[in-house]
Amino acid sequence: MFESIKGLKRTDKCGLLSKKDIGREVTVMGFADSERNLGGLLFINLRDISGIVQLFFDNTDEELTKKASSVRNEFVIAAKGVVCARGEGAVNKNMPTGEIEIHVKELRILNKAKTPPFYIVENSDVKEELRLKHRYLDLRRPDMQRKLVTRHKVAKIARDYFDENGFLEIETPMLIKSTPEGARDYLVPSRVRNGSFYALPQSPQLYKQLLMLSGMDRYFQIARCFRDEDLRADRQPEFTQIDIEMSFVEIDDVIEVNERFIAKVFKEILDVEVKTPFLRMPYQEAMDRFGSDKPDTRFDMELIDLSDIVKTCGFKVFTDAVANGGSVRCINAKNLGDKISRKNIDALGEFAKTYKAKGLAWVKNNADGIQSPIAKFLSEEEMAKIIEKTNCEVNDVLLFVADKNSVVYDTLGALRCEIAKKYDLIDNTKFNLLWVTDFPLLEYSEEDERYVAKHHPFTAPNDEDLELLDTHPENVRAKAYDIILNGVELGGGSIRIYNSELQAKMFEVLGFTKEEAMEKFGFLLEAFEYGVPPHGGMAYGFDRFMMLLTGSESIRDVIAFPKVQNASELMTNAPGTVDKKQLDELGIELIKKEDNE
Ligand code: AMO
Ligand code: AMP
Repeated sequence: MFESIKGLKRTDKCGLLSKKDIGREVTVMGFADSERNLGGLLFINLRDISGIVQLFFDNTDEELTKKASSVRNEFVIAAKGVVCARGEGAVNKNMPTGEIEIHVKELRILNKAKTPPFYIVENSDVKEELRLKHRYLDLRRPDMQRKLVTRHKVAKIARDYFDENGFLEIETPMLIKSTPEGARDYLVPSRVRNGSFYALPQSPQLYKQLLMLSGMDRYFQIARCFRDEDLRADRQPEFTQIDIEMSFVEIDDVIEVNERFIAKVFKEILDVEVKTPFLRMPYQEAMDRFGSDKPDTRFDMELIDLSDIVKTCGFKVFTDAVANGGSVRCINAKNLGDKISRKNIDALGEFAKTYKAKGLAWVKNNADGIQSPIAKFLSEEEMAKIIEKTNCEVNDVLLFVADKNSVVYDTLGALRCEIAKKYDLIDNTKFNLLWVTDFPLLEYSEEDERYVAKHHPFTAPNDEDLELLDTHPENVRAKAYDIILNGVELGGGSIRIYNSELQAKMFEVLGFTKEEAMEKFGFLLEAFEYGVPPHGGMAYGFDRFMMLLTGSESIRDVIAFPKVQNASELMTNAPGTVDKKQLDELGIELIKKEDNE
């Protein structure tokens, strides 16, 4: 039997009651979290968004006792009673409301519940698949609720902060034109114009730039973005950006406003003071020292270039790598020799191969001398130089990769993080924020056999590198910057091109003919002829920011209804098939349906 809520008004939230409420008559509502029967005395823990409070039934009212004893986990109930102090021995120090309980006079069972497929408890170790299938139950868990509450708070801080700094929140369209560049678009077929498609925005990039052209001066939006990419722990097909754009600015202006924002979030959410200005590290330095454009600076183990020492040694793998324009570099896993066994090194070698390294040479400095499979290829002098340059002491392990630079960086960059994680070298109390600057404007895509924009095609080249656009496009640096937190790319942005000729030139370097550029970006090139303020901005991955602020393993934990690896949503089973009639209206005929399953 379900009872009505009629006539009952909630007076308090469960978790907010305390000693100061003793003697008050209160009405609370929520989910039954657990029930106990101690010799006729009944206790029910009642949970709502604010926390848990204990309900007490003293067995004087037979009806009430009977009803209370029928309550099971997750029943939705309302209770009216008086807040009382718990007896001496009954105080629960682990519970914020542990000093009090409610002596219930009236109980209503507003709804019953089936036994849930998993316990609704903090830090559940239930398989994620099951949690996502019943996400509405998973979100009843207090730790999940706290994450969404924190997410709400950060969104509010962002709105208030950017408002106070002259930014206007403006929505941009979700159904837009598909443009080349960037990740793969999600497409939406048009019913009115069969055969035509909208794209879902990968970001509001072009619209926010056009808003600067419109004279809106400063824009911000908490924007949904869609990218049809392979998913990882920090990547979702739809995700959220805190997106901003500013007129009449240079890099320093964008960075300054954003450092204050980040510092405010850390202060208000974690009560952590982060020191501004943050470190700025040019891209090339980040690659040379950390093998990554998102360096985790919470631990050392920096890359060391040994190319000069080994370029004429007896190991062909090393000499070839250097001769072909690549390099030989290593990292020093300091004082880990006793922990990193031969077997561990082999496992690290397998790990290295997933980053396209062809092998992982190593040197172990044991108490009784050097141990290494490459010692036989090196002269004593070469080995001595390596030991000296790497400051390799007893119990240190050197790990080498020889290859073209991109493979060397990728492999050693990933390896240093893997070793740090595995051997517990990371101080988890640290929040290391830094800007990576001076990115290359372009990178060569072997697959497309042309240059592609490293950030996006609207990013301005460094003024002093402009001439190189024709001669050495790969050497042109960009006015782009990424904000990195503990080795994660939290956000990125750039100063934009604001001159139609330079923008047209950029499209040309990217391999578009004039006609293609006009067809795809004509609206932008035309708009650029009507006076464009210099402008720039950036976007944060809001989900990633929340993942780091809440100490979560994956961005799925800070998104109410996330998708899994194959981009499906386990609760609703999206994506799903649609009626033939819907397809007919869109002028779409399916082929080889069985292959799509
Ligand atoms: P960018 O592509 O670098 O820049 O994206 C900005 C930030 O968004 C986050 N992010 C993602 N988060 C979750 N899932 C994804 N699939 C995903 N892809 C990106 C990252 C990233 O740093 N319009 C430009 C910004 C600008 O120039 O102003 C842009 O979108 O944290
Ligand atoms: P080998 O004599 O072929 O057994 O190689 C000696 C060592 O060099 C082994 O530990 C290999 O893993 C390592 N090695 C092979 N290729 C490379 C490479 N490209 N970079 C670094 N080490 C390598």
